[in-house]
Order: sequence, then C-alpha cells, then structure tokens
Amino acid sequence: MPAGRRENTVLSLIGATRVVEIAAGGGTIAVKAEYLQPGGSVKDRAARAAIEGARARGALRPGQTVVEMTSGNMGAALAVVCDALAHPFVAVMSEGNSPERARMIRGLGAEVILVPQVDGTAGCVTGGDIGAAAERARAVAREREAFYVDQFNNPDCFAAHERTTGPELRTAYPRLDAFLACVGTGATLIGTLRDLKRSQPQLIGVAVEPFGAAVLGGATVTKPAHILQGTGYGSTPPLWDAGLVDAFVTVSDQEAADERAALGRRGLYVGFSSGANVAAARALLASGRLRANAIVATILCDTGLKY
Ligand SMILES: Cc1ncc(COP(=O)(O)O)c(C=O)c1O
Repeated sequence: MPAGRRENTVLSLIGATRVVEIAAGGGTIAVKAEYLQPGGSVKDRAARAAIEGARARGALRPGQTVVEMTSGNMGAALAVVCDALAHPFVAVMSEGNSPERARMIRGLGAEVILVPQVDGTAGCVTGGDIGAAAERARAVAREREAFYVDQFNNPDCFAAHERTTGPELRTAYPRLDAFLACVGTGATLIGTLRDLKRSQPQLIGVAVEPFGAAVLGGATVTKPAHILQGTGYGSTPPLWDAGLVDAFVTVSDQEAADERAALGRRGLYVGFSSGANVAAARALLASGRLRANAIVATILCDTGLKY
C-alpha cells in the first residue's frame, strides 16, 4: 500500500501487511503485522474472502444478514467487511472472551449475542464453550434466514491465506526456513503453508499449541483452559491438513504472556497468541534444527487492545 494512496473502501486496508524483523538465537524472526488491519487481527483476510466468495457464488444475497460464531476477531473482521458490503451482521460469542472484543464489534455496527460458558472461565475459552456458542449461532442463522459463515468448515478462509499471506511472505523472503502459527481454524497456518511449500519445499511448517491442549502434536488434553484466545481448542480442526505440518511447538501461558510483554516493549502491542508465536519461533531457532542465520516467519495475530 503506497503511502498517500487514496482508497474508496475500507476493504483496501485488508492485507499487504508489513513484516518486522527480530534478531533471535543467531537467526531472524520475521513477524507479519496482521494486527494492523481494520478489524485488528489476522481474521480480516478470512472474513473478506468468505463474504466475497459467498456473494460471487450467490450463496449470500445482496442485503442478506450474516451470522458467525467467533472468539471476537472473526466477528470484528466480519463487522468491517459486512458493513462495507451492506450486510447486517450478528456475532455469536462465548461470554469467556474478553469484553473488549464484544465492545469493538458493537462499535463497528454489528449485533453481539453472548453465550454462557460451559466449562471455561473468564478469559479462558474451551472447546466446550466454543461448541455451545456454535450451536447457538446455527440456531440464530436459521431463525433469521441468514448466511452462516462457518469459519471452521469454510475453504474460502484457507484460500485467503494461500492467495495473499503466502505470496506476500514469499515476495519479502525468497527463502524462508520455517513458518509457524497458532491454530484456531487452521486457516492461517495451513493456507499460508499451501502457498509457501509449493515454491520453498525446504521450508518447515510448524503448529504452535498451548501447553496442556497440544492435540495436533499427539498429546491428550490435560489443561483445556489457557490464555491463547482464538486458538488451541483441544481438537483437530475439520479442514486440518497434517501433510503440510512438520513439527509442533508447545507454549505455556507464562511463556506467551512474557513474550507478549516483551513485544509490547518493542512497540508491538499485540495479544497472547502473538506472544506464543514469537516464543515458539525463539524455541525453534534455539533447537539447532535450522541452519545458521535461519529466517523464521510468523504472525502477530491481533492487537493487544482487545484484552
Ligand atoms: C488471537 C487469535 N490468534 C490466532 C488465531 C488463529 O487463526 P486461524 O483460525 O486462522 O487458525 C485466531 C483465530 O480466531 C485468533 O483469534
């Protein structure tokens, strides 16, 4: 996005994010500032692709209401996109997500329905809480004859990263050693790896998981509640592609919180999953698995203002 360019829609502010480099363990962590998009998170790309895709296929009619179950970030992203394309939007959220998220979605002009938690606590949303919110969201979509985005089962969300995040990283770095990300739906990690691995087959794909809920790496759930909101739900997401993922790194709440605080002190005010991604990148660089001067790319998922 060249400085001084004029835009006639907020949709133009989605994507084309910048990368900041952090020196670590004899290598470089390249962090992509996804949190600087209008909805404040990486989800803006998925939301735009889901709505534009559904409109193009005729699955979403002009003016039709859109409903989604969200941890908050997809809700803010859809609020931005739906407003730009004149669709009323209803976000259905677990009450356990931080109140700042509901406030932002309402501020963006959307309706928010909060669903009581099943087994999590405030700030710690479990797979059970997500299940309850998803059930309610489907019911609301039926009642209102709305389009249900269904981000966990929506291939458009994955394609968004394959079409945009991957190519943007490739343009910045013709040779990356690894790409890693926390996993909610898996759209960010899997979609980006789909693109990157086509031209950079040496690249290692890494899933970042919360300690105690690292099911993708083969562990059982011993601690379903953790602070990495929007990720680590203790089950394999429906569109997961195990063939693209070469390694798994587990991050504790303390490590994610410490790294998040360190990022804040560098001028990068982001949320806990961003802290987890950078902590995991440090661990990977320290592991000795990568060449000297390796470059590890990851995502700063959302703004710290949402917590
Ligand atoms: C803060 C945060 N980090 C990471 C993710 C994971 O993104 P994805 O659903 O693309 O796996 C999400 C998803 O909602 C999120 O809200």
